[in-house]
Amino acid sequence: MDKEMENLREKFFKKMASIKNREELQRIRNEYLGRKGIVAQMLKKITSLSPEEKPRIGELLNKIKRDFQKTIAEKDNDFLAENSGKEEQVDISIPGRNFMLGTTHPIELILKYTEEIFMGMGFCIVDGPEIELDYYNFEALNIPKDHPVRDDQDSFYITPDILLRTQTSPMQVRTMESQPPPVRIISAGKCYRRDSIDNTHTPMFHQIEGLAVDKDISLADLKGVITEFCKQIFGKDRITRFRPGYFPFVEPGVEVDVSCQLCQGLGCQSCGYSGWLEIMGAGMVHPNVLEMAGYNVEKYTGFAFGMGAERIAMLKYGINDIRLFFENDLRFLNQFK
Ligand code: DAH
Repeated sequence: MDKEMENLREKFFKKMASIKNREELQRIRNEYLGRKGIVAQMLKKITSLSPEEKPRIGELLNKIKRDFQKTIAEKDNDFLAENSGKEEQVDISIPGRNFMLGTTHPIELILKYTEEIFMGMGFCIVDGPEIELDYYNFEALNIPKDHPVRDDQDSFYITPDILLRTQTSPMQVRTMESQPPPVRIISAGKCYRRDSIDNTHTPMFHQIEGLAVDKDISLADLKGVITEFCKQIFGKDRITRFRPGYFPFVEPGVEVDVSCQLCQGLGCQSCGYSGWLEIMGAGMVHPNVLEMAGYNVEKYTGFAFGMGAERIAMLKYGINDIRLFFENDLRFLNQFK
């Protein structure tokens, strides 16, 4: 039995010295340590030994078993370490993988440019709620409950007194209520109207509102500020035109046009052969609005204006369908850096 055990050890370690992978290792493990493996069979033989020999051989065989187990486990660890090393190897000569950089959404760009231009003229930025009281959205802007102009701005009502704002003009009132004059603010954000979707309408869109109230503000100030804005956002060669227009919260009210970029004002398909493109509503703040906000109408006057950010973006970038802004098509969005 002693000789047999010696042979067993010798053979095992010889085999172990030549194995090359985990599959071979597994095979050896089964061959020697499996339930019907060589060691198990030798252990069985102990029963036929003399009572003196039994404990000695038993102990030696168990030691052999432990040694084999240890050797196999160590070899297995070596293989594992080798493999994981391979997976983590870094080849620094491979060119880096490009990751996609996002771009700023064109509407966000317009809001940013606009805010920067007006900040350069001394305006501050204020933010307001998209869920608005009927009072601020209409009533305090000189649009009482039965005013026909409400028909043009059909909204999403939450209760009869709360709605998704249809315009950013409520921020005029909110600002005046919260601070005394002088005021120079810009407020941009989302507005909502129950319009059917087509190439110039979406139920959600963005507006940019402006308000300036101080002593001695006149229509000339409005014209100067808006003309400067148009030159900065559309280009120095663009001309502005002010036409009479009606909005309940201004008096007088105007609509502002810029000269068409394509035809330089001569008339073409894109401007409906008029040479002009309408970009915003504006006017001198109606005394009723100043008064409802608590301002002294004898001392203060002001101008206000409001424009659609999508419309400005469409004119600036030559986009003919408003839906492109909201479809999230990267081929479109990636063009704006
Ligand atoms: N809020 C108006 C609209 O949605 C636009 C507007 C017109 C705003 C005249 C003004 C303004 O501040 O003075 O049609």
